[in-house]
Amino acid sequence: MPIKICVFDAYGTLFDVGAAARTAAAEPGRTKLAEKATELAEFWRQKQLSYSWLRAVSGNHIDFWTVTENGLDWALERTGLDGDVELRERLLSLYWELAAYREVPMMLATLKAAGMKTAILSNGEPEMLEGAVKSAGLEIYLDAVLSVEDVGVFKPDPKVYQMVLDRFKCSADEVLFVSSNGWDAAAASGFGFQTAWVNRAGEPMDRLFAEPQHVLSDLTEIPKLAGL
Ligand code: LAC
Repeated sequence: MPIKICVFDAYGTLFDVGAAARTAAAEPGRTKLAEKATELAEFWRQKQLSYSWLRAVSGNHIDFWTVTENGLDWALERTGLDGDVELRERLLSLYWELAAYREVPMMLATLKAAGMKTAILSNGEPEMLEGAVKSAGLEIYLDAVLSVEDVGVFKPDPKVYQMVLDRFKCSADEVLFVSSNGWDAAAASGFGFQTAWVNRAGEPMDRLFAEPQHVLSDLTEIPKLAGL
């Protein structure tokens, strides 16, 4: 089926989640963070995601902001940066204004100019998503920002992917779902979406129950993949 809707994961796909630690590390007086910024960002992201999966499988849902704080607290302790309350607050506030990847505005503008529907489908809770979308100036390019808070469970629960079909009254094969998370793209393929995995870091393919149909190194090719 021709693609009618392009749906994007938010964190790591449109928004650069590494930017919070990098930006804070470049600020004056943050020598200790500067040494550990890469490690901190990786631990933070890994824990944030694994807490989301654990909460989904155990039926203990909580909003993604809390999961993000919990992941950061683990990562700060693991890297010996805990105890600096001001640093913690700074990193968290930067999460509300993450930069979008460079190619994002042009890619979304191209989709919209061609009449394509566009949306975000994210674990993020609505206020976090609104903050990031506004700060990156993306609201003019998006028809919908869908948050898992409406179904009360994190990805990759199929209820999350179903939200797109309910919202746009479309069939799964009319959706191109784009994620930088290999597991998210794989699960969305399993759900029936056409999928693209944005594999910026050249990671190996996840060994799961389904695979993404397309693997890209950034988002530039999305309009072409969507048939434009
Ligand atoms: C999201 C996370 C998985 O935005 O990146 O849903």
